[in-house]
Amino acid sequence: MKDLTNKKILFIICGGISAYKSLETIRLLKKNNAEIKTILTKSAKEFVTPLSISSLSQGKVYDDIFNIENETEMDHITLSRWADVIIVAPVTANTISKLCIGSSEDLASTVILASNKQIFLAPAMNVRMWEHPSTKDNVKNLQKYGYKFIGPVTGEMACGEYGEGKMSDPLDIFNEISDFLLANQKNKKTKALVTAGPTYEYLDPVRFISNKSSGKQGFEIAKSLSKKGFDTTLISGPTNLSINEDINLIKVETAEEMLKATQKNLPAEIAIFTAAVADFKMKRLNINKIKKKDNLSLDLEKNVDILNYVSNHNSMRPKLVIGFAAETDNLDENAIKKLSNKNCDWIIANDVSKNNCGFNSDYNEVVIHYKDTKKQKEKLSFKKKSEISEEIVDRIINQIS
Ligand code: PMT
Repeated sequence: MKDLTNKKILFIICGGISAYKSLETIRLLKKNNAEIKTILTKSAKEFVTPLSISSLSQGKVYDDIFNIENETEMDHITLSRWADVIIVAPVTANTISKLCIGSSEDLASTVILASNKQIFLAPAMNVRMWEHPSTKDNVKNLQKYGYKFIGPVTGEMACGEYGEGKMSDPLDIFNEISDFLLANQKNKKTKALVTAGPTYEYLDPVRFISNKSSGKQGFEIAKSLSKKGFDTTLISGPTNLSINEDINLIKVETAEEMLKATQKNLPAEIAIFTAAVADFKMKRLNINKIKKKDNLSLDLEKNVDILNYVSNHNSMRPKLVIGFAAETDNLDENAIKKLSNKNCDWIIANDVSKNNCGFNSDYNEVVIHYKDTKKQKEKLSFKKKSEISEEIVDRIINQIS
């Protein structure tokens, strides 16, 4: 028995012969006290009935018909926010391709598009459809967007052919979903703090020193942490990014403000410093706009080091302190120096000498160095920052559990 009390599952059933197997997954979830709402797509109703689902789930069953006039305001948003997790089982090749292009033509696809929760997909289709290059590309893209696949498995299909494409067993789907929810529940008690973005260090009321950081890497890490249930605070310098309301976002401008916000949000079990904090600030801020002249020399001083402050804190040092190192040369060597100088548990080095990677890009390529000398450095090769973040957060979970 897995206690899923208070766990909310939005179960989406698409049309396919294996739709009947989802009744068993719903029965298992309900038996373990989960709260379930279900959406049946138009074609799913050819295979299972709303009555059988609502009898088993004892929860509301929504129709495929997405009629904006009949919808109470923001109903699809409310539904997607209500859920702790969304599972689509079975998901067809057709739905997979629609999710890939961000379709929102019916209630199921609209709720999925609007969701900020983990979405699991349990495909079921003919082996040729599953192995088709277009399906393979679609699956890869959805994985990049953060969807998790359960199966399919190999076996004999309803059409009589044999191969990969059969929907996973209801018990396996149940186990995957319940394990995810229970791990999330454990993480909810764990506070994670992330710094992101650049800082502005003002010269006068209108000018400042800053850098190219967009905040993307830090925002993606915060999103991955939140998706995995962590109680996440994101302290960010100025960016154009927005984030879902599950994350406590604190906006700052200067390094001084970033430090203060960090201090206010300690203690935390995990702290990840992705911010590109400006190294220098003005010794004395000009109250008035500096007048144009032929030569201008700035009297700068070193900025406060937020990571150093946290990693050397006597009483409130987080269990896991992770720094980032943006380097243009001697990546490993410089990163290892920072690992030790800044008293981090891990340092994540990124090469920022290339244009398509690191600063202000959707992509990154990093090497993780560990203080624990028993652990080998690990390279996460060139991929989306969202994927890099998921992999970092998976490692964080492994380390703290
Ligand atoms: O924001 P993006 O466009 O997505 O780009 C991501 C990134 C390249 C900025 C990010 O991946 C990254 O590498 N961040 C660290 C950038 C950096 O300048 O590091 P650093 O070598 O100056 O500092 C090392 C570590 O100390 C960092 O964790 C930094 O956050 C921290 N630090 C540095 C100075 C300071 N005053 N306070 C700090 O906390």
